Amino acid sequence: MRSILAAGLTALMLAALPGAAAVTVKKSEYAKLPDGAVTMFTVTNAKGMEAKIITWGGVLVSLKTPDRKGTLADVVHGHDSLGDYRADTGTYFGALVGRYANRIGGAKFQLDGKTYKLPVNDGANGLHGGTLGFDKRNWSGREVPGGVELSYTSKDGEEGYPGTLKTIVTYTLTEENALRIHYTATTDKATVVNMTNHTYWNLRGEGDILNHLVTINADKYTPVDTGLIPTGELKDVTGTPFDFRKPMAPGARIKQADEQLKRGNGYDHNWVLNRTGKGLELAGRVEETTTGRVLEVFTDQPGVQFYTGNFLNGSVKGKGGKPMNQRTALCLETQHYPDSPNKPTFPTTTLKPGEKYDTTTEFRFSVK
Ligand code: BGC
Repeated sequence: MRSILAAGLTALMLAALPGAAAVTVKKSEYAKLPDGAVTMFTVTNAKGMEAKIITWGGVLVSLKTPDRKGTLADVVHGHDSLGDYRADTGTYFGALVGRYANRIGGAKFQLDGKTYKLPVNDGANGLHGGTLGFDKRNWSGREVPGGVELSYTSKDGEEGYPGTLKTIVTYTLTEENALRIHYTATTDKATVVNMTNHTYWNLRGEGDILNHLVTINADKYTPVDTGLIPTGELKDVTGTPFDFRKPMAPGARIKQADEQLKRGNGYDHNWVLNRTGKGLELAGRVEETTTGRVLEVFTDQPGVQFYTGNFLNGSVKGKGGKPMNQRTALCLETQHYPDSPNKPTFPTTTLKPGEKYDTTTEFRFSVK
């Protein structure tokens, strides 16, 4: 009797613990590869929120979340097949990006007196870890409570970067409708690391994002040159179209005659987050008023790239073969500032042997 009571009590206590209730994880084969398979993990919580993650590129393939009436919609861009993910070399839909997300100027950097050359894949610059970055690798995946743990070892010299980098990324879904991404990495030689997730959000699940209401918790951003490399300046957003400290529709100012907007073909910039400590703090918030869906992004990173899908032009097809048109999604890529390896005044992205790269970003969903 006592033990039955105790078991009942334990179950009750567990159910009361945030995040400890029944998040289920299902594993299935997504696609075959000559040397193995791409696995899909479907993670669902008791509220019906569902995330699908594949081992290829660690891609978040779909994320279904309720609107204010409880109707679920998939709020992320993606493809229907592995072939389409492999063929798409420009969008990084849903992928884990590394070893260095965003741009490195001139596709080279110096570390400990040595110059490292990277693949030139964006004008004269290096973008998103190279031609075969972390988004084009099949990670090892295993189920963990509430989600999936993905691991990938990037070899010394891979895509030009020094050091063998052992990377582990864990996606977990909580009962409070948050998708948490935890990244860790260690190296055997000094290297640079800056990882992110490149999900394209559309909280309505269709149409464009010009009327989504965006808030970015930042007084400053990093203006860029014509190749989208930061100039090094941390510029005050006051009085510019980059001021998102109060909720603003991207469409309200995106067409303004502003040199920075012209360079980015819209918003494609890194904001310098207002931070008070080391833990998770608000980076940004997005609200879609017709469905009531709200996304809040919390991170421990110093920056966020706000990208309004400016380079989508319909040539890439998404789910159901639909052309993915300009500004049909927005990205909030938590990160270190672009080109940090060449900008001694920016927070460092160097990782040395014995140190641990350890960072978390949470995408919290709710309705209003
Ligand atoms: C970059 C954009 C780029 C997009 C897709 C973003 O992180 O800032 O310039 O077009 O990724 O590659």
